[in-house]
Formats: sequence, C-alpha cells, structure tokens
Amino acid sequence: MSRGRIPFYKLIALALVLAGGLAARAQTADQAWLRQHHSAIRKEIPSTVRALGSGILERSAAKELSRGIADLTFLSSYIADGYLDGQTILGTKKEVHKAFPELEIPDDLGPEGYWLKWTHYRGHVLLVVAGEDEHGVLYGVFALLRNLYLGAPLPSAGYSEHPAMPIRWVDEWDNPDGSIERGYAGSSIFFEGGNVRDDLAPVAEYARLLASVGINGINVNNVNAAPQLIDSDHIKQMARIADAMRPWGVRMAMSVDIASPQKIGGLATFDPLDPAVRAWWTAKVNEIYTLIPDFAGITVKADSEGQPGPASYGRTPADAANLLAAALEPHGGIVLYRAFVYNHHADWLDPKADRARAAYDIFHPLDGKFAANVVVQIKEGPIDFQAREPVSPLFAGLEKTSAAMELQITQEYTGQQRHLVYLAPMWKEVLDFDLRADGKPTPVKEILAGKSFHRSLGGLVGVACVGRDGWLGSPLALANLYAFGRLAWDPDLSPEEIAKEWTIQTISNDPNVVGTVTKMLMQSWPAYENYTGPLGMQTLTDITGSHYGPNIEASENNGWGQWHRADKDGVGMDRTVATGTGYVGQYPPDVAKVYESLATTPDGLLTFFHHVPYTYKLHSGKTVIQHIYDSHYEGAEQAAEFAREWATLEGHIDQKLYEDVHARLVYQAGHAIVWRDAIVQYFLKLSGIPDEKGRAGHYPGRLEAEDAKLTGYKIIDVKPWEDASGGKAVSCDPDTAIAGGRMAAGSTPHPHCTAEWTWTGEKGEYTIGVQYFDLQPGAAQFIFGVNGHMPGYTPGVTWTADSALPSRRPHGDNSTRQKVGPLFLAPGDRISVDAIPDGDDRAALDYIEVTPAAPNREVTSDLPCAEGLQIDKDAGPEAVNETVGPDLTGWAGETNVGTPVEAMLVEVFHPGDKAPIATTHTNEKGGFRFTDLAPGRYRVKASGVVESGADEIIRLDPNVKAQLCLVVE
Ligand code: GCU
Repeated sequence: MSRGRIPFYKLIALALVLAGGLAARAQTADQAWLRQHHSAIRKEIPSTVRALGSGILERSAAKELSRGIADLTFLSSYIADGYLDGQTILGTKKEVHKAFPELEIPDDLGPEGYWLKWTHYRGHVLLVVAGEDEHGVLYGVFALLRNLYLGAPLPSAGYSEHPAMPIRWVDEWDNPDGSIERGYAGSSIFFEGGNVRDDLAPVAEYARLLASVGINGINVNNVNAAPQLIDSDHIKQMARIADAMRPWGVRMAMSVDIASPQKIGGLATFDPLDPAVRAWWTAKVNEIYTLIPDFAGITVKADSEGQPGPASYGRTPADAANLLAAALEPHGGIVLYRAFVYNHHADWLDPKADRARAAYDIFHPLDGKFAANVVVQIKEGPIDFQAREPVSPLFAGLEKTSAAMELQITQEYTGQQRHLVYLAPMWKEVLDFDLRADGKPTPVKEILAGKSFHRSLGGLVGVACVGRDGWLGSPLALANLYAFGRLAWDPDLSPEEIAKEWTIQTISNDPNVVGTVTKMLMQSWPAYENYTGPLGMQTLTDITGSHYGPNIEASENNGWGQWHRADKDGVGMDRTVATGTGYVGQYPPDVAKVYESLATTPDGLLTFFHHVPYTYKLHSGKTVIQHIYDSHYEGAEQAAEFAREWATLEGHIDQKLYEDVHARLVYQAGHAIVWRDAIVQYFLKLSGIPDEKGRAGHYPGRLEAEDAKLTGYKIIDVKPWEDASGGKAVSCDPDTAIAGGRMAAGSTPHPHCTAEWTWTGEKGEYTIGVQYFDLQPGAAQFIFGVNGHMPGYTPGVTWTADSALPSRRPHGDNSTRQKVGPLFLAPGDRISVDAIPDGDDRAALDYIEVTPAAPNREVTSDLPCAEGLQIDKDAGPEAVNETVGPDLTGWAGETNVGTPVEAMLVEVFHPGDKAPIATTHTNEKGGFRFTDLAPGRYRVKASGVVESGADEIIRLDPNVKAQLCLVVE
C-alpha cells in the first residue's frame, strides 16, 4: 500500500487522536448555567430596569436583571432612576408598596421570598419583582431570568416562592496553600501560598453563581482547619473574601480548629469549660465581627479523624459547641457542629464494633443540651458519602436540636468528576425518606426545614470544593452544584426537572439535546452504583488511599470501619439488633422493623444491614453473587452507552463542550471496565461460584501483556491483584528498558520497551482496547502498530499518558483504556505496543483486547458520527492524494469482491447540518477529494448503489451510509 492513502478508518483514528488532546478551558462564569447563550430566544420584557431601593443586594439584582434582559431582548437594557413607561421594577415589598400603592402584593412572602408579576399600572406595563427582604429581591430576579430562559409563563395572578430552609450553604475544603481536600478542579480560588489570593474576581463570580440558585452561606476553609487562618493577619485577609461575596448575599463562615486557644493563642489548654479559653474565643469572635460584620458562623470538626476535640478533657461536643455559640450569639452567628465523629481505630475483630453507630451514640444523648444557635451538621448517611447508604438515624434522634444535612457535591467517592454521576436523584431519595419519628410521617426534608420538631434553624450544606478549573473540572458535574442549590431551596423539585432546567440554561434548549442530556444524567448514578458497589456494599474503593479506583480489601482489616466483611461464604455487615451490631435499633421502630428483617430490607441496602451467603436470593429472584456479576456488566455497558448517546449530540451543541465531555465519557467507559473486572474477578475467586452467564473470568480476545513477546518490559505483580487482568502487568523499568529509541525517528534516543503479540484469530475487522497504567509523575508515550506500523499510516496510533490520575503505582486508580481502530487483522499479523517511559511513569501495560468490529457501525461505535459502513476496507486502490487538508482526500475502499468502488456519492457536511457543503463521486480507484476546506470539523458521508465488475453486481442498500467525523487542519 502506498504511503499517504487515508482510508476512512484511519481518518477516524486520526480524529480521535486529535480529540483526545484537547486542553482544559480557562475558568469563566459562562462555564456554568449563567452563560446566557440563548440570544436566539427573543422575549418581550420592559427593558428599563428600575430598582426602588439602593441596598447592595438590590444593586446586584438590578445589574443582573439588566444583563439578562439585554441577552433576551437584543436590546441594551438600562437602569433608570425615574419612572418611565414599560419598566421592570424591583424592590422589597415595602418599597414596591410605597411606589405602587394600588398593587396588591401577598402579605407574607416568607423570609428571603419573592413575588413576580406582570401587570398594568395606570396604563403602563410593569414587570414586578418584589422581595420580602433584599435577599428576596435578588432571588426573585434570578428566578425571573430562569423562567424567561426556560420559557415558563408566569401565572397572571403572579408567582411567589420562598426557600424551604434557612441554611443553604456550601462548604469548601480549601487549605491556605491553595490545595483543596477532595477537590478535583484545580487549586483554590480563595488561597495561595498561605494567604488569601490577590485576585478574588473568581470568588465574586462564584458568589453570583451560588446566589442564582439561592445559596446564602459559604464556609471557605477545610474542616480539617488550619489554625492560622484566624490569626489577626489572616482575619484581615478573610475579610476580603467576605467583601467579594457580600454583593450576592453569600455570607462567609469559617472552620476552626477547636485547639486554637492553645495552638495560636498561647494558652496551656483548649478545655471548653476553662474560663480563659472562653475569654479567648469571645475576643477572637469579636475581632472577626469587627472586620466582617455579617460573618455567618463557625463550622467545627472535632474528635474526628485525628482532629483535636473536647474528648481530650472529658467534655462533650455540646460543651465545645456551646462555647463557640456563646461567643457568636451576640453577633447573630451560628455554630455548625459536625456529627462526623467516630473512632477510626475501631477493632475489626469485634463483631459488635460499628462505625455507623457513632454519630447517634454520641449526639443523641446530648439532645436538648445544645445552645439555640448551634446546628448539628449530619452527613446524609451514617458512614461517609458512599454511592448508597441508608439515611442517618440521627435526623430523627435530635428533636430538641437544630439539624442540617451535609451532602457532597464534590464526587469524592462517586468518580471524582471523571465519571458522570448526577447526584440529585440520590439526594432526593434521602430528602424524601420518611423516618417515621414518633410513629408519624417525618420526611427528612421536613426535619431540615424545622417543621417536624419546630426548630428555627436547619438546612442543607453541600461540600462543593470548587477550583480554578471550570469550577468543578467537568462541565456536566456542574449539574450537581446547580441541583444542590435548587433542592435546598425547594426539596420538592424533581431531579429530572432540575436536570432539564440545567441543560436548557447551560447547553441548549433543543428538545433533543435536553432529552438526551437529561436521560444521561438520570441514569448516571444507578450506572455508577452498578459498576462499583451494588447491594449496599458501600464503596469497594481504595479506602485508605485515593477513594477512586477499586481495592476491595482496603476497607477490611483496619480501624476505619468501612467494612463489608466479605468472606468465602458471603458478604455484608450484620447490623441487626437480634444478631448484629444493633445499629438498626437507632431508627424509629417503623423503620427499624423494615431493616431488621432480611425479607423487608430493600435489595439496594441488603449487605449494609445483613451478612448474607452469596447464594441468598434477592427480591429480584437472583442470587447475591449473580447480581454482583450482572450489575457490574450492566453498569459498564451503561457507561459505554453514555459515550454513544453523547456522540449523537455532535453538531448540535458547542463543539468544545462536545469534545471535552466526549473525552471524559470515553475515559469513564474504560474505567467502568476496570471496576467491573476487578470486582467480578475478586468475588469469583473468593466465592468460587461461576457466573451463570459465563462472563466472569473469561475475556475473549484479551491478550495479556505478560504473555507477549517482551523487549525491555518486565513482568510485575499489581497490588491489589484484582486491579490488573490476571493480577500481572509489564513495566518498562530503567533496569530492563532498551537504550535508544527507534520510535522517535530523528529525535533524541529514549529507553523504550515493546510488547508484541502474533494474531492467531480470524481475518477480519477489529477494534482494540489497549489497557495501560497512566502513572504520575511523568507522561509515557505509547505507539500502537501492526506489523511495525499502522498500514498506510506510519508510524501508528500514538498517545501520551499524561492524565493526572491518583496513585503512583500500577493500580485500578490509573488503569486506562486507549481504543484503537477499527482496523483489519489477518493471522500472523504482529500487533505491537511500543512505549517510552517518562520519569515515574513506566508505561506499564496490562493487556490488549481485540474485539470484532460491528459489521455496521451504527450503534456499537462510540466514534463521532460513525454509522453503517458496508464497504470492505481491507485493501483498496492506490492513493489518489496524500494531503489531509485543506484538501480532504480519502477513499471509499473496495467492494468485498476486491474491486474499487467507483461513482459513490461522497458528501461533506458541517457537523449537524443536513445539507452538504460539497459533494463529489469516487473515481475509478475509489478515491475522492475535496479542495480548499477551511480548517474545522466535518462529517463525511459515502453512499450509493454500486455496481462492480461485469459478472458481479453489488448493491449497497441506499439507506446504509458510511460516515465519519474528522478534523481538517
Ligand atoms: C471524608 C474525607 C476526608 C474529610 C472527611 C470529613 O473522610 O475523605 O477528606 O476530611 O470526610 O468529612 O471530615
């Protein structure tokens, strides 16, 4: 074959390589839902905005409204002082009443509530936003804009709303050095090098985003608090953060180290009952309020995971919380005392030991002992943000204490923003859960709203951990931040509706796009649960490390208490009252009854509450072990489907967004396979029970690296063993690598290694998954080749392993799949992976997996735009041209009887367009050429009825078309 010919499949490979190299976008406000991209939606809104008051929040509201109206009307909107015809008016209820006495505003809008109304007043059109208070004005403006973007009509009687709960906060876990605990989006927007950053513009933008969904508080520093942040110098710096957020009504709070009087105050003790300690905190809090008059309060993590706490002096959490509450009370501040207190040196050998019990055991007896401005902040489940947990029983165990629920927006245990997991459905289940306190309906959301136990405080706190990389790193993860705010405002909203709202505002209002994205979001949590830890196993991740990839035994045999107690006969923690740890008894009786019995415990929580044999039959009729196998295969398949579904959106949405998310979804599909295989092979080995569908332990087409002909590579054991196929991989270590690089022609020679397999399967078209370990620090390079190079495409498919994945040794955290092909293989072909290690990235390789390409690539391909290609592409006519762009050339292959396909119609499109921008026909050699294409992305389609040769007529179904997307540069 001649050099330079570019058959379809090679163009596909090229397009993929280019798509993989996309850089992260710089952080701007338009990366979230306030991007206001719908200038296509034209609205008739009075373009003059008149704010009736001059408070700081009203000024922000007026500016926001003016900006939004300009976007929606194409008219420049302006803020007027006087009264004009046709205005959008905003003000507090009192202000509106004064200016328009005849307007009938509902009496009680509720704190922070608003009223929206289109009306005529003395012959003039008025659009009114009235707030119960200034916060209400701001939230009313955001609600009005949201309604306009969503095309939701305002009822003629007007529309009013107020938030369900007073505390609607986010927590950031930022450290003074700019790192963020459990943050997956770059470094801090608040801190750098031990101090508050000079540039707080992103902080103000963040506050705007938060306010747009009704969030009114933010705790900015890590709960594992750095004591120096409240020294006098840092309080001044912190005041700048509060200043930046103030125009958006987002009040700043801080985490403190309860040992601060000793650590930075020079006292000999931090005993909460010591008068000197009390005096120190009073002075400190006064100092804070001098500079930050609207300081919201203090969050405390104490006696938890190594943090100091009142237990050191035999005091209780109530003693510590009340100490701070007393200092804050005169200023109107509150204490959020975290119930995340447990012993992380628990005795694994003690069958009665149970971390899940800790919060209730410690806090329930203190009910009634907390000051009125203390709120106990309780994680939604009794363990720690797992993919599924039961609701913490402590919500029903504090009737005389205000409670807030802590949720995690940052996806610590749910894929760390590399996996698509929309958490709103999980949160909604928790909020709706009926705890049946005192035998009466007690949905959690009503407890948090203060309704159930008549509390004046309560709410939701979401651990967000935003950073400088697009707020949450992944564009689709922002749906979680949005949903958190919306649910805190109104827990009765449906996660699906929220997903639609978010999609319309963020991506597109095209119904097809909205439907596809909403569906993907809604399926993502169940999919993740399926391929990680189903049946309430909690996380099967590396519990003592990254909390990311699979490591099943990491949870066991240590003091951290996230045990699942899997043994050769069964799995699960017995938490029943009758035979287990007694945790079930912490629930009100109606709920306890359900969980105490195997028969009534829902399948999804089975192993959280019970230890069951692998042969136990679920409500579904499946055995536990079969469910483990099935759910992992289903979950991985669902993950693959997300990439395919997203691919259908190309051309219909912003191209950069498309490519960014597509690359993430392709990665997720590969990592879901890593999870699937680790858990399946672990439980297969442990239980010895085969998969009735024959999949577990059988990987057709998988060629292990350790079985390859290795040059330079050496065989290593991977730990944990289940994270690699067969427990082994190969590593290109300095002591074995071959000096000098034959791959990098003309460049500096590099040590390198090669793994080579000889294909013994059938001749045919295949896709190939190359499973390798992308290690840090370093960026190893890989080249995939057949018979030394990709035929016609020298030197082969190359990629660089430069993702920042956790763990520094080959592990499920960093096991990554690169897809190559489709391409043709014939018996005897030599398949090779060459690698150049870089630093600690030893280019470790697990296996390659050769899978027959689907005959028609309609559904199986996750390549953009690819669909049926019924032309044999094995061998073909000579090249017609060597150039890729601006002249696009290619060939439509040959028929399956070996004759070039002449006169095929070839069309080139802008992605998403129906009409081609150019058409041509293949020449007698099957080749085609388009000239002078501008750089960009194109879809190319070949179709037609083909006659070939005198005695053979091949008819292609005219509806079957070959097409692909490619980049012309
Ligand atoms: C988890 C998380 C920690 C965090 C802790 C907390 O354990 O892994 O990083 O500090 O929760 O909520 O306090």
